[in-house]
Amino acid sequence: MDRQSQKGRERLSRSASPHLNELLEHQVSRRSALRGGLGLASSTFFAGAGVSALSACSESDGVAPLELKFQSVAGSDAPDLLRVPAGYITEILAPWGTPLLSGAPAYAGDGSNTAADQAQQVGTNHDGMHYFPIEGSRRGLLVVNHEYTNGTLFAGDGRQEDATGAPTDVDEVRKDINAHGLSVMEIVRGDDGRVSLVAGSPFNRRITAATPMAISGPAAGDAKLRTPFSPTGTRTRGTVNNCAYGSTPWNTYLACEENIQGYFITNDANPPRETARMGINADGFGYKWSNVAGDASEDNGEFARWNVSQTGASALDDWRNEANTFGWIVEVDPTDPTSTPVKRTAMGRMRHEGCQPGRVRNGEKVAFYMGDDARFEYFYKFVTADAYNANGNNADMLDRGTLYVAQFNADGTGQWLPLDYANNAALANDFSSQADVLVNTRSAADTLGATPMDRPEWSTTDPLTGEVYLTLTNNTRREAGQENAPNPRASNSHGHVIRIAENGDDPAATSFTWDIFVFGSAASADPSFNISGLDANNEFGSPDGIWFDPRGVLWIQTDNGAPLDYGDDPNDQMLAVIPARLDGERVIRPDNQAQLKRFFVGPAGCEVTGIQMTPDYKTMFVNIQHPGGSWPANDGVSRPRSATVVIRREDGDEIL
Ligand code: FEO
Ligand code: CA
Ligand code: CA
Ligand code: CA
Repeated sequence: MDRQSQKGRERLSRSASPHLNELLEHQVSRRSALRGGLGLASSTFFAGAGVSALSACSESDGVAPLELKFQSVAGSDAPDLLRVPAGYITEILAPWGTPLLSGAPAYAGDGSNTAADQAQQVGTNHDGMHYFPIEGSRRGLLVVNHEYTNGTLFAGDGRQEDATGAPTDVDEVRKDINAHGLSVMEIVRGDDGRVSLVAGSPFNRRITAATPMAISGPAAGDAKLRTPFSPTGTRTRGTVNNCAYGSTPWNTYLACEENIQGYFITNDANPPRETARMGINADGFGYKWSNVAGDASEDNGEFARWNVSQTGASALDDWRNEANTFGWIVEVDPTDPTSTPVKRTAMGRMRHEGCQPGRVRNGEKVAFYMGDDARFEYFYKFVTADAYNANGNNADMLDRGTLYVAQFNADGTGQWLPLDYANNAALANDFSSQADVLVNTRSAADTLGATPMDRPEWSTTDPLTGEVYLTLTNNTRREAGQENAPNPRASNSHGHVIRIAENGDDPAATSFTWDIFVFGSAASADPSFNISGLDANNEFGSPDGIWFDPRGVLWIQTDNGAPLDYGDDPNDQMLAVIPARLDGERVIRPDNQAQLKRFFVGPAGCEVTGIQMTPDYKTMFVNIQHPGGSWPANDGVSRPRSATVVIRREDGDEIL
C-alpha cells in the first residue's frame, strides 16, 4: 500500500519438510551450471567477474548462459487488463472472499458477507506470499498476506460511520479485522497446468487481526508489553498491515507488520517515545475500531485496545501498551494449522516491510534483511546467534541474535551497527534495557547514526553471489542538500534499487560494499535523472516487490509508479533482469540493466506485489492488490477484488 492508497481509502509442525532444502541444493547446482560454477563465483566475488566471463565458461560446458527469452511487453494505463508476453497466459486464483475453510459460505458480490463469513474466506488486498511445496510443483501451500482493507469490503457505499467518520457497526468492524492478516491455502496443479485452491483442505487457515499470538525474545514480558489481555506481556491478538514477508530455511513464514500507526489512535498530548516515533496519532488511517468499544459483545477490549491513550491508573487499566505488541516480525508455521504465531522481538520493532534471509549455509548463522518503509528510515539485518542446522530443530532461532542497522559510506563501503544495549555507551545512555532498545528500534538507530534511506521496501538475495538487493521506493521529500551517496537524488519520485555485498560473502559480516543497481525513471527524463538509461522496454517508477528466483532471474514489481512516458498514472508492472555483479569499485552502474525487460502489466489502479514460482519454474504467482474498475470480472458493475494471478506458458515450458 502506498501513501496515496492510504489517502484514497474509501470510507472506508515444524516437522522436517525436506522440500525446500532439496530445492536449495537444486538451485545451487543448477545455477552453477548456468552461470559458471559455485567455486568460480566465490573466488571472484570482488573481482568483477561479471556475466560475460561466466557466460564464456558456461558455453565451454555446453550449457547455454541464462538469458531472458520473452519479448518486453508494452506499458499501459488501460483499465482491467493483464499484459504478459506472447505465448503466456494468466488465470485468477483465490480472489478476496473465496471460500477457504471447510463449510465457508460463498462470496457475496454485494458486500453482504458477515464478519463470521469473512473469517472463513480469503482476506483482501493480497501482498507478499510464499509457496511451500508439499509435492514439489504439483501441490503446496501458498501463504498470502492481506495488507489492509478498503471500502469495497462493505455492503453499499462503504462502512456505516458516525459524523466523525468512525465506524458504528460492530459486525462491520469485526469483518474489517477478519479481512486482515494472512491466508494459508493448499493449491494443486492439474495435468492441464491449471492451478486451483483446495477449498476446505485441513491445511487451510486464516490468521487475522484477532488471532491469539505469543510474544517471545528479549522484549517479551517487559513492562512496556503488559496489557489487560496479557498482564505478563507475553501474548497479544492479531497482526495487521502485512506487506512484504519473509521465509526461513526451516520452512516457516515471516509476516511483517508495517504501517501499524494506521490502526491505533492516541489522544495523549505527549505520547511516549515508542508511540510517537512509530507515527501513532489521533486519526491513524481512519480505521478507528475503538469507536465500537463498550458494545455488549466485546471480548476483553477487542475494540478498545486500538486506542492507546493513557486513561487509567496503570498499563493494566487501559490499552496504552497495545501498540507495543505490534510492529514486529511474526513467525508462522504454515504446516500446522493449530500452531500459535509468534512475534519475535529480537528482530526489532519498526514499520517492517520484509524479512528475507541472506545466503543460507548449513552450519552457519543466518542473516535476515529488513526494510523500514518510511521516508528517511533505515535498513536493518538480524543475525542469529545460533547456526542453522538443516537436519535439526531450529525452533526459536529468531529469539537469539544481534540486530544491526546499516550505515553507508560515500565510497561504496558501509558497516552494520549493532543495536546492542550491553556494549554501547550511547544506547546505555538513551535506553534502559535491551528490551527498551527493541521496542524503540527506530530511536535506537537514530542514536547510532544510521543512514536515512528513501523508503526501504523489500529485499532479496542473489542465490549465487549472496548479494542483497533492496528497493527504495521513492522519496519526494528529500530536498536538495539532503542527498547522501546511497540516496543521491533529491525529489526521488521514481525510486531506485540498491545492493550490498557482505564482506567475505559472510551474512554475519559487520561491513559491506554497495552500489546502486538501477534508478527508476521515465524514459524521456533528462539523463541526469534517467541515470540508468531506461527506455520504452523498461521504464518504471516506485520499485517495491523484488525477488530472485532460484535460477538467478531478478523480478522487480512497482507500487504506484510515478509518471512514465506511457501515462501520468501508469499501471503498475513487473520487470525482470539477470544482473551483472557488483564490482566493488563503482557505486553507480549504468551497465547493470542491459537486459531489464517488462514482463507483466496489471490493471489500472492496482499495485503489483508478491511473487513466487513453483520449483519447476512453470507456474508463477503474482498478486494484484487494490485493483480499480471491476477487475477481475471486468463487467463494469462488480466490485473490484484483489487476487492472485497465475502466469504460465501456453506450451507448458519454463517461464523465462
Ligand atoms: Fe505496504 Fe511498504 O508498502
Ligand atoms: Ca502493498
Ligand atoms: Ca509500497
Ligand atoms: Ca510494499
